Amino acid sequence: MSFLTTLILLFFFICSPSAAILLNKLLLPTPITGPESLAFDRNGEGPYVSSSDGRIFKYMATGPRNGSFVEYGYSSPMRNKTICDGLSDFSDIQATICGRPLGLGFNHQTNVLYVTDAYFGLVSIGPNGGAPTRLVTGVRGTPFRFLDALDVDPETGIVYFAQSSKNFQLRNYIALFNSNDSSGSLYRYDPRTNQTTELLSDLAFPAGVAASNDGSFVLVTEFLGRRIQRFWLKGPRANTSDIFAQLTGSPDNIKRNPRNEFWVAVNNLLGPPPPPLPPILPSAVRINDLGITSQVMLLADEFVTQPVSEVHEFNGTLYGGSLFTSYAAVFTTP
Ligand SMILES: *[C@@H]1O[C@H](CO)[C@@H](O)[C@H](O)[C@H]1NC(C)=O
Ligand SMILES: *[C@@H]1O[C@H](CO)[C@@H](O)[C@H](O)[C@H]1NC(C)=O
Ligand SMILES: *[C@@H]1O[C@H](CO)[C@@H](O)[C@H](O)[C@H]1NC(C)=O
Ligand SMILES: *[C@@H]1O[C@H](CO)[C@@H](O)[C@H](O)[C@H]1NC(C)=O
Ligand SMILES: *[C@@H]1O[C@H](CO)[C@@H](O)[C@H](O)[C@H]1NC(C)=O
Ligand SMILES: *[C@@H]1O[C@H](CO)[C@@H](O)[C@H](O)[C@H]1NC(C)=O
Repeated sequence: MSFLTTLILLFFFICSPSAAILLNKLLLPTPITGPESLAFDRNGEGPYVSSSDGRIFKYMATGPRNGSFVEYGYSSPMRNKTICDGLSDFSDIQATICGRPLGLGFNHQTNVLYVTDAYFGLVSIGPNGGAPTRLVTGVRGTPFRFLDALDVDPETGIVYFAQSSKNFQLRNYIALFNSNDSSGSLYRYDPRTNQTTELLSDLAFPAGVAASNDGSFVLVTEFLGRRIQRFWLKGPRANTSDIFAQLTGSPDNIKRNPRNEFWVAVNNLLGPPPPPLPPILPSAVRINDLGITSQVMLLADEFVTQPVSEVHEFNGTLYGGSLFTSYAAVFTTP
């Protein structure tokens, strides 16, 4: 039995998958789609989600508009409401004017929201929402082509973010899926100095980033590489990387939970895996801080035709996002 087959069998039989139970669908205003990522502010409000028309929406739990998403801000400095509001899908207008926010993360000390826009780089939005401030548009004179995910270190406020590819843009994501591209990178942005540093390069479609609770490492998923790499920030292995986990499907976003674990949104979009195993459905995979999978939940009912982009545990509730659905999902407490 090959090493890979052993891993796959371990994945399936040691962590026999359960099914997540859908509690609620948080609907975006029609016809907007694509809550690719979710964030919560320092008061525990939200989720805030990125969306297809370039805006970031906040889900209101209380107040006159409770139970709905309201506009919070946007990530393109060029955005024009007349042209952009209500765009439901990828378009060239979006790429050049409206932007496409993907990664979201609050600094819980300042309540500044950091956003990776697929086309406009790393931006921040102040504590009252609204217009973005551009922070990083490229490195060493080369503009970013496709920024995707980010995470804010809860202690230092340092932002870790990923560029999925140097060669493909978000609007060409199908070509990227079908390529062997490994031109992605992981970066570190320090808001105190405005300095951006490349930590890892040659990544195969990095799609998710998560710092550990104690700031000792940062994880980056590789959607095409079907694995998660760990870059050490502290300790004897600082500035080196290793493989944190190998997966049978393609990982998208990865999010820390309060128990020092990580939730990974995993899909199989790349055709059938090695026989005799069946295709893997969209799933929520929980991995501990040693890289060991401790839970696999199928999300088939919620994301039956759509891949899941993010699984995010907050205050005992599990939320799901997707680049394609018209809603964010709320699941049973894990
Ligand atoms: C967390 O959940 C509890 C129980 O469901 C709720 O009472 C509380 O308001 C929530 N806190 C936040 C910050 O959302
Ligand atoms: C909104 O708030 C009202 C009044 O508190 C409550 O009756 C209603 O159920 C809430 N709706 C949602 C969707 O939470
Ligand atoms: C936004 O787009 C509309 C429609 O093309 C145009 O009339 C308007 O001048 C634009 N607004 C700005 C601020 O560029
Ligand atoms: C990707 O690499 C594999 C194995 O090296 C090769 O068979 C395949 O043709 C490559 N695909 C592309 C799109 O380059
Ligand atoms: C970082 O950039 C911000 C916004 O452009 C600017 O206000 C600030 O002075 C810069 N800080 C440093 C240390 O360069
Ligand atoms: C890691 O790299 C940074 C930046 O190059 C450097 O300042 C630091 O001293 C390095 N740490 C170790 C342990 O090598």
